[in-house]
Amino acid sequence: MVKICCLGAGYVGGPTMAVIALKCPDIEVVVVDIFEPRIIAWNSDHLPIYEPGLDDVVKQCRGKNLFFSKDVEKHVAEADIVFVSVNTPTKTQGLGAGKAADLAYWESAARMIADVSRTDKIVVEKSTVPVKTAEAIEKILTHNSKGINFQILSNPEFLAEGTAIQDLFNPDRVLIGGRETPEGKKAIQALKDVYAHWVPLERIICTNLWSAELSKLAANAFLAQRISSVNAMSALCEATGADVSQVSHAIGKDTRIGPKFLNASVGFGGSCFQKDILNLVYICECNGLPEVATYWKQVVQVNEYQKTRFVNRMVSSMFNTVSGKKIAILGFAFKKDTGDTRETPAIGVCQGLLGDKAILNIYDPQVSQEQIQRDLSMHKSELDRPPHLQPASPTAMKQVTCVWDAYEAAKGAHGICILTEWDEFKTLDYQKIYDDMQKPAFVFDGRNVVDVDKLRQIGFIVYTIGKPL
Ligand code: NAD
Ligand code: UGA
Repeated sequence: MVKICCLGAGYVGGPTMAVIALKCPDIEVVVVDIFEPRIIAWNSDHLPIYEPGLDDVVKQCRGKNLFFSKDVEKHVAEADIVFVSVNTPTKTQGLGAGKAADLAYWESAARMIADVSRTDKIVVEKSTVPVKTAEAIEKILTHNSKGINFQILSNPEFLAEGTAIQDLFNPDRVLIGGRETPEGKKAIQALKDVYAHWVPLERIICTNLWSAELSKLAANAFLAQRISSVNAMSALCEATGADVSQVSHAIGKDTRIGPKFLNASVGFGGSCFQKDILNLVYICECNGLPEVATYWKQVVQVNEYQKTRFVNRMVSSMFNTVSGKKIAILGFAFKKDTGDTRETPAIGVCQGLLGDKAILNIYDPQVSQEQIQRDLSMHKSELDRPPHLQPASPTAMKQVTCVWDAYEAAKGAHGICILTEWDEFKTLDYQKIYDDMQKPAFVFDGRNVVDVDKLRQIGFIVYTIGKPL
């Protein structure tokens, strides 16, 4: 039986390994983590992450060929293939701070693998890493390895949160990069054999190491660029009377452009787009390519602009001040169907409103009050840290209340602000909400989910992204 061990039981390690275990009953998969509460949660009825379909997959194979353990060294030592899916946040200090990837978790994982290994291993980069990371990892492994053969592969993950299980069951492609030596090719084949249990062979792409590493950064940069492009258009739509949904539909019909990922919004969030683009920018700068760096940096800058623009529009439309006004914030996660708040645009928008002394009533179906308070009282650079490495929340957020119902959030409010596209926000009883609000009652839809005509008929003043007033 092939044995797989995965370092890092997070949003990627957990679901990815659960699907490998489900699809490959002949393989034993152990997911390990240095953060014990996460492992305890993976072994309980309340998994540490909310992801549609995940509970079902875990239930089917946990205890059979899928295990979660804190016994990191033992399981690494026993494995044939070691996936490394640890976090790679943006560096907050030192050389490259604010842009470069912090590979401290990766490096310590690699040193541990070298220390405990007694047999040959394939080490797979699952985390998103800067191009050429495999070279550094190879150095660490081979210099400490006492003659053990390590083959490094790059196998970046392309799943999106909220649809992770669907993406893993039916990936557009699986990418495997490796050394072009006989040993490298053998390792690539071994990993290909794992995915071939359920992924059609024509969707498994094999490349050299550097192409695989760079393709991951490039894919995220291209995806984020589409959002910043449509968001930039949304500003022009608001200024001219064009409707961004109509523009997206019209341009998306061109098969060379395509219809997906053209939804204008208050801005993209999530743990990776910004971090990976900044990392790409840093790599370009280090390689003497300042023009290329500036090009990609603009994608992040437009995203910041979009959030600021949204807050400014809210404040100016509410008679130039929100001081002492109650605003219902509907949605805090960075997208629907996840409880993840990393880099959610809700943080910037709420902080902006708090800066103007608004009173916020926040509701999100999957995000806890503790998480919201931690996010809002934290400096931006600290947000990339995993929960156990973050400093304790410093201030009580006196202007912020978290509630567990959208109607409760809107009671007595001057305005509603939708920041996550949860399906339930489309079908709320807006008449009931309107009746309970201060007048004039405003709606600021940062995700273009509400039926604008219907809400205007009720009496709301509605602002959306990129649509005429
Ligand atoms: P995460 O923070 O949810 O999980 C990482 C886990 O690794 C944490 O639980 C941490 O405790 C653990 N860890 C750190 N050092 C360790 C060590 N030495 N040994 C064992 N465990 C260790 O992060 P994530 O969202 O799962 O992302 C992981 C990587 O995958 C990142 O590089 C990210 O860019 C990439 N990625 C993420 C997504 C996503 O949707 N979140 C998608 C594709 C790629
Ligand atoms: C993204 C990529 O889609 C994945 O392929 C990649 O593996 C992952 O990053 C990663 O490397 O972490 P994710 O961030 O989970 O996945 O979610 P997305 O669906 O890409 O959404 C990201 C953000 O963009 C969200 O805030 C979403 O609301 C926003 N978005 C997305 C828009 O504003 N408009 C769109 O048209 C699409």
